[in-house]
Amino acid sequence: MAIRAVRGATTADTNTKEAIFAATEELIKEIIRANSLADDDMIDIMFTVTSDITAAFPAAAVRRMGITDVPLTDTAAPDIDGGLGMCIRVLIHIDTDKPRSDIKHIYQKGAKNLRPDLSSHARISVAIDGPAGAGKSSVAKRVAQDMGYIYIDTGAMYRTVGVYGLKNGIDVTADPQLIVPFLDDIKITVNYENGSQRMYLGGEDVTDRIRENDAAMAASAVATVAQVRSRLVAMQQDMSRRGGVIMDGRDIGTVVLPHAELKIYLTASVHERAMRRYKEYIEKGMECDLKALEQDVLQRDHQDMNRAVNPLRQADDAVLLDTSDMDFEQSVAAIEDMIRKAESGRA
Ligand code: DC
Repeated sequence: MAIRAVRGATTADTNTKEAIFAATEELIKEIIRANSLADDDMIDIMFTVTSDITAAFPAAAVRRMGITDVPLTDTAAPDIDGGLGMCIRVLIHIDTDKPRSDIKHIYQKGAKNLRPDLSSHARISVAIDGPAGAGKSSVAKRVAQDMGYIYIDTGAMYRTVGVYGLKNGIDVTADPQLIVPFLDDIKITVNYENGSQRMYLGGEDVTDRIRENDAAMAASAVATVAQVRSRLVAMQQDMSRRGGVIMDGRDIGTVVLPHAELKIYLTASVHERAMRRYKEYIEKGMECDLKALEQDVLQRDHQDMNRAVNPLRQADDAVLLDTSDMDFEQSVAAIEDMIRKAESGRA
């Protein structure tokens, strides 16, 4: 017999006791199954968790699973800049007669990103395009987290350029070309912090600012400018070079990732899209008017679909997914199914 170490990691969907317990149980069960472990084989179990996990500790989940006589520890992991969020890592020492090469380390959910070399599935590039408010970003973010992909929100980059205009009194909605002389001055940085994308303009974190309605309208305006597009498209292509990305926008399947293994055109009716935005604003306690939101959706559709440079359109080889009658979970499930099929075609 020898002492060997098994490694594993996963991510929790939310910082709640139930989510942390569920993720931990799934991880430990799979480590036990894949390595045919009995409780007696385990010498100790050591967890580290990222500092954004505060609700409960995974060790308690292991006790609840009935593993009561293996010593356990929980510690906080040091923060890693751009590291994965809500991540649970585990190291289990075991007594075994297996050679080191037979030990199965397990990486699940968002943590698959940590060890793509161990991941059993082929990682593809996924392009999701569609009109404003179709739910692209919330669905794509969740799918990426579930399946170990990196989510890249390209709309956030156009919004950041729009916010530059707003901050500097450049009336881009009246004339988008006014932004052109400033392009060299616009320093956009995309960072991944605790697993989510944060946008910086110069040194300033504008992640929340870009979500406001004026930023959306300014983004749609600057997105008509060829020089803005060529700069952002180059950044986006650079960010996706290693594959394993889900990127959403308007021109991803047609221009940014023309060779993506899976292209999805995600849409919903104007009313449904305005309604979703309405509910979002109301939940955040922001005042809004449904009719005005419908007008905004129509105006952005018109602008995004009719601009001369890289207008929004469904790529010839994209799958159309209309989510007007689907809820969030159904949309997530439909896309995850498409990705699994595309991955197996690739494998
Ligand atoms: O997806 P979003 O609402 O965050 O995008 C904001 C605006 O940016 C949208 O109205 C059009 C533009 N955009 C674009 O032209 N191309 C992209 N790839 C992403 C967004």
